[in-house]
Amino acid sequence: MLSPKVVKLLNEQINKELYSAYLYLDMSNFYADKNLKGFANWYYVQTQEETAHAMIFRNYLLREGYKVELGAIDKPNVEFKELVDPLKEAYKHELYVTSTIHDIYAAAQEEKDFRTMSFVDWFIKEQAEEEDNANDLIQKFEMFGQDMKALYLLDADLGARVFTPPTLVI
Ligand SMILES: [Fe+2]
Repeated sequence: MLSPKVVKLLNEQINKELYSAYLYLDMSNFYADKNLKGFANWYYVQTQEETAHAMIFRNYLLREGYKVELGAIDKPNVEFKELVDPLKEAYKHELYVTSTIHDIYAAAQEEKDFRTMSFVDWFIKEQAEEEDNANDLIQKFEMFGQDMKALYLLDADLGARVFTPPTLVI
């Protein structure tokens, strides 16, 4: 049995993951507009990943016999000016998502809901990776972003990222 509080948080997480997908799509559009196709690709793949995360939460709720309730997805409300802006916003956003994942774990722990704790554990590890990737990109940009040749190489590097479905499937 999942508590109403845990069910509510899991439902809200679907919305948060879909908002993340939407936010990353906005970032991808920003770079596509600047003709930085590698950066655009990086965030497009990120959009696919976030959508997959939303489906994992959805599938977990369905498997456990709970109703999935979809809310409205907010418009991404961040204005990007400098090339580094989305990178910084992405890191900030991932820190926020980590906090919401931790909230679900804490609520499940309070209810001795070991199944949800074990389920959310995958996301706790995933968030560590997401934060690391986002922070790494800021560091790379700050080192090389001002040099046009280096920016070109970094863009090519990010262009090579392909979407691989998450290892956790429900
Ligand atoms: Fe996510």
